[in-house]
Amino acid sequence: MTRHPLRRRLVWIVVALVFGVTAALAVVSAVALRSTLSEQLDDQVRLASERAATTPQAGPPASGGHEGPPGGSSLPLGQAAGTVGVYYDDGEVVDAGYVDDAGRFQPLDAEQLAALQELPLDGHVRTVELPGLGSYRAVAAQTPRGDAVVTALSTDGVSGTVGSYVTVEVALAGAGVVLAGAAATVLVRRALRPLDRVAVTARQVSELPLDSGAVGHIPRVPPALAAERGEVGAVGAAFNRMIAHVETALSARHESEQQVRRFVADASHELRTPLASIRGYAELVRRSPDDVPPAATHAIGRVESEARRMTGLVDDLLLLARLDAGRPLERAPVDLASLAVDAIADAHAAGPEHAWRLDLGARPAPLLVDGDDARLRQVLANLLSNARVHTPAGTTVTVSGHRRGRHVVLSVADDGPGIAPDQRPGLFQRFSRGDTARNRTGGSTGLGLAIAEAIVHAHGGTISVAAAAADATGATFTVRLPALTAAAQARHSPARAGSPTVAV
Ligand SMILES: Nc1ncnc2c1ncn2[C@@H]1O[C@H](COP(=O)(O)OP(=O)(O)OP(=O)(O)O)[C@@H](O)[C@H]1O
Ligand SMILES: [Mg+2]
Repeated sequence: MTRHPLRRRLVWIVVALVFGVTAALAVVSAVALRSTLSEQLDDQVRLASERAATTPQAGPPASGGHEGPPGGSSLPLGQAAGTVGVYYDDGEVVDAGYVDDAGRFQPLDAEQLAALQELPLDGHVRTVELPGLGSYRAVAAQTPRGDAVVTALSTDGVSGTVGSYVTVEVALAGAGVVLAGAAATVLVRRALRPLDRVAVTARQVSELPLDSGAVGHIPRVPPALAAERGEVGAVGAAFNRMIAHVETALSARHESEQQVRRFVADASHELRTPLASIRGYAELVRRSPDDVPPAATHAIGRVESEARRMTGLVDDLLLLARLDAGRPLERAPVDLASLAVDAIADAHAAGPEHAWRLDLGARPAPLLVDGDDARLRQVLANLLSNARVHTPAGTTVTVSGHRRGRHVVLSVADDGPGIAPDQRPGLFQRFSRGDTARNRTGGSTGLGLAIAEAIVHAHGGTISVAAAAADATGATFTVRLPALTAAAQARHSPARAGSPTVAV
């Protein structure tokens, strides 16, 4: 119930309503019963008073005692048990007592008598508290002889009846509320159960990877439920319509993305041939310096270098477009340890002013992954070129490779200036560069990390960047790739799977 606030609220509302209605009925009926019984009692008091006023007593009043049954005084004639009577003669109380359950007339004590004597002689029935006897309805009336007579009847009967009525009602109401609560719980749960189906479907949809790629079938609410009449059916039907809409929109988005990718891939592909021609002709001119003036030789040199840069850019774009399109990679066992050795050697040649270190642990072993050798080389090359280009001379760059559980972890760490925290979130996005102006003139395009990420993802791995420890500067890029399993290794030819142990 705690996970279903709506159900709980509905059940509580039903319980509260049943309780409210029952309580109101109980109060009204108890009040009505009480007033009816009180009226009846008052009638009885009046009748008893009339009898007392007109009927002579059993025996003549005498001081000190009366004739009658033993233990009591004279018995008022025709009065029921419990009737209290005070009889006057010439303004003096001659007899005062009540008829006990055994039918004997028991005398009243002084306090009780005093309470009754206070009654005005007006024939109105009033409530009187008789000490020791309880609450009474009493009336003082005049006898035909001109004397007063007070008659009272106990309200215990009325209170008792109303009390037991209320007890029964409370018990019934309690049972009714409990039953209503139980019934409401069952009914509300049954009525809202289809909503759970909608929630389950919504959860399934929310777990689908809809952010990229082709959209398969998105789950719907079962048609029978969506066709149901009523609110829940309407929710189900609306949910299904929304899913159909989302599916169409996502398919359209995917289709247009594919078109853009095809366009970029085709455009880059088409650009390669003219670029190769430009480079070739420029080289041709540069190689025959005698035929062209020196200024033109310089210009041709620039054309050649820019054409080379543009070729690199076009290659990068083509590669990204192909990776985006999910084109399958070559798959073979690749030893990342030997890749790291090669990459360090290349980096050393390209950046002799930097210190390059390799850490493959105390006992280097092959770090095999199932992947595309050339692409994985490119990942390392991009990370190392960043560590060279974006740090000053003298920076130490450490490439380390280890096996961690079922993964191979490669990291490239430098102690250069590091990456500003605000630059880190978009670092792997395309064309994201640090110091834009400087990098653009320096030939930086901001595609290196995007390509590295796309390649690593295509291999089912992850790439991340971390700042150096608090007391140091620098950046650390970490690549995690699934290690080659023994089973996968056996699938490849033994000749290719074997990899030389790396000597550092
Ligand atoms: N080791 C590093 N130290 C400091 N900054 C770095 C480092 N590596 C990357 N960066 C920052 O990240 C940005 C993006 O790097 P990325 O490799 O994607 O592009 P690029 O190096 O600028 O261009 P490209 O690699 O396409 O020639 C860089 O411009 C640089 O600001
Ligand atoms: Mg780069």
